[in-house]
Amino acid sequence: MKKLTSIALIAVSVFLAFTFAFNPQTVTGSAKGNAPGPGTPLPDSIHKIIKKACMDCHADDGNFMAKGKVNFSSWDKYDSEKQFNKANTMCKELTKSAMPPKKWRAKNPGDVPTQAEVDMICRWAKSLQK
Ligand code: HEC
Repeated sequence: MKKLTSIALIAVSVFLAFTFAFNPQTVTGSAKGNAPGPGTPLPDSIHKIIKKACMDCHADDGNFMAKGKVNFSSWDKYDSEKQFNKANTMCKELTKSAMPPKKWRAKNPGDVPTQAEVDMICRWAKSLQK
């Protein structure tokens, strides 16, 4: 009987050890460690460009379609992963001159981001952590 108890105990210990080692909860737990953190505010140098070239549309009082895609009034509320994705889309749109839209460029030629400003936004986008 005693022998049976110790075998049972060993079995239970082995079972527990395996449960802890391969517990999916442990995996979820460590994945949680990589969950997106709170985002960071736009750096001043970036905000200056965005304010003159993007916030006519991409802001609370802007264009409905535009702010649905990116709303710079709520940038600080985006988590780090969303900021990373949006920032890199911004870089892409700016690089191919898709944003600001053509019509807006024609009306505000002085406010269109320069190549140096586009480069700055792209470098910032790449420096963000997901
Ligand atoms: C005249 C208004 C206007 C201005 C100015 C403007 N946008 Fe947009 N933007 C829009 C609209 C409308 C959309 C949504 C429709 C679309 O994707 O074409 C959009 C979409 C976007 C998207 C999402 C694209 C996608 O495919 O997900 C990004 C990123 C973006 N704009 C970045 C910018 C940046 C950065 C600036 C400033 C340099 C800017 N926009 C200036 C109107 C504007």
